[in-house]
Amino acid sequence: MLPRYCILLVCSFFCLISFLNAYSKDFYIAAVYEHHTILNQNSTALTDRKSALEFMSQNLGIYEKQVTAAARKHAQIIVFPEDGIHGFNYTRSSIYPFLDFLPASNLRPWNPCLEPHRFNDTEVLQRLSCMAAKGRMYVVANLGTKVPCQRLNSPCPPDGRYQFNTNVVFSNNGTLVASYFKKNLYFELAFDTPPENQCVVFDTPFASRFGLFTCFDILFYEPAIRLIEKHMVKHVLYPTAWMNQLPLLSAIQIQRAFATATGINLLAANVHHTQIGMTGSGIYSPTKSSFYYDMTSENGKLLVENVPVDPSWETPVSDHEEIYTTQKIRYGDSCEMPINLVSMKLPFQHQTPPYLFQAQMMYDNFTFIPLLTNEGTIQVCAASLCCYLSYTKTLLANELYAFGVFDGLHTVHGTYYLQICALVKCGGLEPETCGHEVTEAGTVIHYQLWGNFTTNHIFPILLTSDVMLDLPSFWGWKNNLCYMNNTRMSSGLVTAALYGRWYERD
Ligand SMILES: *[C@@H]1O[C@H](CO)[C@@H](O)[C@H](O)[C@H]1NC(C)=O
Ligand SMILES: *[C@@H]1O[C@H](CO)[C@@H](O)[C@H](O)[C@H]1NC(C)=O
Ligand SMILES: *[C@@H]1O[C@H](CO)[C@@H](O)[C@H](O)[C@H]1NC(C)=O
Ligand SMILES: *[C@@H]1O[C@H](CO)[C@@H](O)[C@H](O)[C@H]1NC(C)=O
Ligand SMILES: *[C@@H]1O[C@H](CO)[C@@H](O)[C@H](O)[C@H]1NC(C)=O
Ligand SMILES: *[C@@H]1O[C@H](CO)[C@@H](O)[C@H](O)[C@H]1NC(C)=O
Ligand SMILES: *[C@@H]1O[C@H](CO)[C@@H](O)[C@H](O)[C@H]1NC(C)=O
Repeated sequence: MLPRYCILLVCSFFCLISFLNAYSKDFYIAAVYEHHTILNQNSTALTDRKSALEFMSQNLGIYEKQVTAAARKHAQIIVFPEDGIHGFNYTRSSIYPFLDFLPASNLRPWNPCLEPHRFNDTEVLQRLSCMAAKGRMYVVANLGTKVPCQRLNSPCPPDGRYQFNTNVVFSNNGTLVASYFKKNLYFELAFDTPPENQCVVFDTPFASRFGLFTCFDILFYEPAIRLIEKHMVKHVLYPTAWMNQLPLLSAIQIQRAFATATGINLLAANVHHTQIGMTGSGIYSPTKSSFYYDMTSENGKLLVENVPVDPSWETPVSDHEEIYTTQKIRYGDSCEMPINLVSMKLPFQHQTPPYLFQAQMMYDNFTFIPLLTNEGTIQVCAASLCCYLSYTKTLLANELYAFGVFDGLHTVHGTYYLQICALVKCGGLEPETCGHEVTEAGTVIHYQLWGNFTTNHIFPILLTSDVMLDLPSFWGWKNNLCYMNNTRMSSGLVTAALYGRWYERD
């Protein structure tokens, strides 16, 4: 005892130094700000540049305060949400005065704070650049930009310019280091789809490789999955203005699932406006998260977290945000065969399963089977996908759950092909309420679910009562089946789903 104690005392100072060194090498400090955007009530009216700048200055003033607050917590990078500076619902012409000129990459490097007069109409970029320099951190923000084009190039719009929904990144001295034009626009009349696919990556002194995309992009191959699979991106910067849609696509659900499924860190900043269903931001590593979701106030929120430089490492638990940990999670081919899958004989494989019904969940016709007993194994199939569920309800409430399958093209508010196995709590006790939005649940269920998916891009989604995130105990692939299971849940289950995207069939 004694010698060890002495050694500890003697080396404590040096240990502390080496610990700090190791620490700073292994982690960086990131901030995301969920911003209650001050909205332009007159967004379809035409205005001039001066009024537009005055309007945007209100939001930029809040950004400045957040950079200062983040700097006090030693943040090295901060992410602000999509549409956080100008707001929503512009037309192509009404947004024009709100657009900054974005110089092409051959005119960079450029530090707007130090070289403000190099280009006209760059006031917003200048302000963001100065924030980055003053706070000595990387600043990631979303704004509207204009890029002149020649009509000879056929995709150039008739008015001779592109208008892009744009993410920009400034280094900690204010230099513009990256810009990205949103590809998958979500009914944004004010903006053009970029004529070419962009995969934007950059490195920082504290971590590499960062990539960026915006909001709806998260559901598509270009550029989100390409960045990770072809460009080896480890950290994604993700400004979003995401309207929550339960049971499957609340902002935090897809953020959590994306980081887990792809094994990267995701720094996600959403707009905060409860009336339009926007809340849900977070800092996610593959197995940990710090997130913000609040439908009860209109407050913005700054999250600051340690993020592992290598996302396959564990993050230390910090004490100032909601953090949860899973003891163990495995990925991909390293997963073992689920025991149940080997030993289980599906008892009703050759029968017609009873009580099958159709109900709409998020505009898609799911085929559901209700969970009528307190434990069992059930299957439900549609098109080429069969989903299986083995479950035990350990805490019972008077609630209806159903297990559903969808394998088809989603066509409302965007067109994209889905393969989904989903266990959901229904809105009421009637079958037609299955798929409705619910946020509270009292039934605790231990389960394993799996399906014979054709796509290998599958996002494990898990949500418990009061819109809390969770991770499956295990998930992965074996014998061409994707599965997830959970035997340590302690609160009511709202949604457990394998959300598959079959990009080739969009
Ligand atoms: C909105 O625009 C209209 C027409 O330009 C103007 O009359 C009105 O005062 C504006 N309202 C606000 C709140 O700015
Ligand atoms: C934008 O338009 C949509 C649809 O017209 C409307 O529901 C929403 O409230 C508008 N948002 C703002 C901020 O004006
Ligand atoms: C900026 O605009 C002014 C006034 O239109 C013009 O005189 C000047 O040449 C422009 N500067 C640049 C760098 O384009
Ligand atoms: C500013 O940051 C950029 C990007 O990290 C770097 O290339 C450049 O050397 C820096 N400039 C100065 C003056 O430090
Ligand atoms: C969950 O999956 C793991 C790994 O495949 C397996 O060891 C475990 O038995 C499964 N648990 C249940 C309850 O199916
Ligand atoms: C979904 O099912 C309903 C009722 O069976 C049907 O009217 C509707 O056309 C279906 N929608 C799609 C997209 O298949
Ligand atoms: C999934 O399993 C069902 C039932 O065995 C089968 O009909 C279907 O073809 C399978 N799908 C794939 C993609 O293998």
